[in-house]
Amino acid sequence: MSEDKRKPSTRLIHDGRQHGGFDGAVNPPIRRASTILTDDVSKLYGGAKSLYGRMGTDTQETLSDGLKSLENAEHVQLAPTGLSGCALAMASVLNSGDHLLITDSTYGPSRRFAERYLARMGVTTTFFDPRITADAFAALITPETKAAFFEMPGSLTFELHDLNALLPLCKQHNIITILDNTWAAGVFFKPLDAGVNISVQALTKYVIGHSDGFGGAAMTNDQRIALKLDQTANDWGVGMSPDDAYLAQRGLRTLHSRITQQGRTALNIAEWLAEQSEVKEVYHPALSTHPDNAIFNDLFSGASGLFSFALYSEDAAKLDRFFKTFQLFGFGFSWGGFESLILPCNPQLKRSTSDRWKSGSYGTLVRVQIGLEDEADLTEELQQALSELH
Ligand SMILES: Cc1ncc(COP(=O)(O)O)c(C=O)c1O
Repeated sequence: MSEDKRKPSTRLIHDGRQHGGFDGAVNPPIRRASTILTDDVSKLYGGAKSLYGRMGTDTQETLSDGLKSLENAEHVQLAPTGLSGCALAMASVLNSGDHLLITDSTYGPSRRFAERYLARMGVTTTFFDPRITADAFAALITPETKAAFFEMPGSLTFELHDLNALLPLCKQHNIITILDNTWAAGVFFKPLDAGVNISVQALTKYVIGHSDGFGGAAMTNDQRIALKLDQTANDWGVGMSPDDAYLAQRGLRTLHSRITQQGRTALNIAEWLAEQSEVKEVYHPALSTHPDNAIFNDLFSGASGLFSFALYSEDAAKLDRFFKTFQLFGFGFSWGGFESLILPCNPQLKRSTSDRWKSGSYGTLVRVQIGLEDEADLTEELQQALSELH
């Protein structure tokens, strides 16, 4: 096959779309179907195309083809939400008696899935410090260790892993590696190219990009893993709805522009925040002061629009005034949409490996999702809010 010389943004616009298909329409139809009829009874069983809508229609197929191009993946398993995509990846490759290594900085509900559901399946879990060295990681590996779950950067605290040191170790011990790639959205980091076995994304975030749908995807280049993902999705009876798949495939077309713009504004705001006297620390891996900045520069081609920072103030009355200032930044969970969000996150921070985060002595942790608003408007609002802390 000849080398694809098209730039990533061009590929996102065109790949997965059937030029001239769908009666010439640029986008696929939202094909809602449970029953899909066949005019030939002999094709009901074992035909090439699925005749049941849970397995997807051409709406989901368009999305899967676009995601294959985005993440350089041969196989895509869609899931109804990002969390079910993470869960599907873990459950597909683990059996009773197995041991899982999972980053302590992972998204809370992924952590809970391991601690609650996988424990019931008879899988044991060890959380590792996201900045773990290869030697310390090797010491956690047992003969039962069958999978390792990474997330880059970590939820809320934004650490990166030394993947170049950890992945070869996993390979050496036949440990299947899974990485939650939602932050980079496949645009700024391609886990499968880096040697990860399964890349997972919450399509809910940047791919759908408009805060109005849910989706997940587990992607791999390993045929055997693809079969396990497919079987587990079938066993659980999960897929992605055509309506959400439509939104996600449409989101792919503008993903590159949105995430690039949001990332640019976010980095400028992160740099500005780092200079403010009320701010104790900014957690953004593209900042040269971030402890993992060398890994970031090595593995990522850019940054998206989500980061966090710690305020010195822990004064409830002042913090109340700080948050009440915001008009453009909404208070809400999730991220990746076109609108800015701000969230105090101390209550949801759970860490078992780091004394620093366990101690609660880090100040007030605030996460921001930077949207597509003008940077000057967002900075002005943040400045106004910070002035309420005095
Ligand atoms: C890093 C990460 N992964 C997965 C998810 C789960 O996505 P969903 O809300 O679609 O289940 C989230 C949601 O916040 C997330 O932040």
